[in-house]
Amino acid sequence: MAIRPVLRMGDPQLLEVSKPVQQFNTPELGELVADMIDTMRELNGAGLAAPQIGVQLRVVIFGFEANPRYPDAEVVPFTVLINPKLTPIGDDMEDDWEGCLSVPGMRGVVPRYIQLRYQGSDIEGNAIDRTVTEFHARVVQHEVDHLDGILYPQRIRDLRQFGFVEELDAALEDDEDDDEQ
Ligand code: NI
Repeated sequence: MAIRPVLRMGDPQLLEVSKPVQQFNTPELGELVADMIDTMRELNGAGLAAPQIGVQLRVVIFGFEANPRYPDAEVVPFTVLINPKLTPIGDDMEDDWEGCLSVPGMRGVVPRYIQLRYQGSDIEGNAIDRTVTEFHARVVQHEVDHLDGILYPQRIRDLRQFGFVEELDAALEDDEDDDEQ
């Protein structure tokens, strides 16, 4: 197990389409997932996709209880999801802020489906089939995008709602100060 370097936006490996996992329950797959877990926890991420550590396989992990990067977010059960298939339920989308360990220090408003079904396998090849909403659905869409070479800034509709976390937070505090006057 090891904490692996996370590739950053600009690295062409993040733009590749990853390949499906063919064999489950192997030492290689176990080692990959263990490294992903160590790396995500070290960086307080909400999720991580294998291509972010330079492995072009359709493996994502996500979930957390309390996360300092997302203090208001709902709890999402820790999940290892392999060869995921997403099916949006309805056309409704919702805008909300996202960050990404491959785009450190930044945040942007991204539209995502509010409700979706996701299917795939766990590390042993057992089927996973869940219908989820809101933040859980958002995290899954963000992570699965990585497997198709898509980073969240590509989905931002209004680039005025994209910036450095420090500046966005400072602007928010100024707004709150104004409200009090
Ligand atoms: Ni990401």
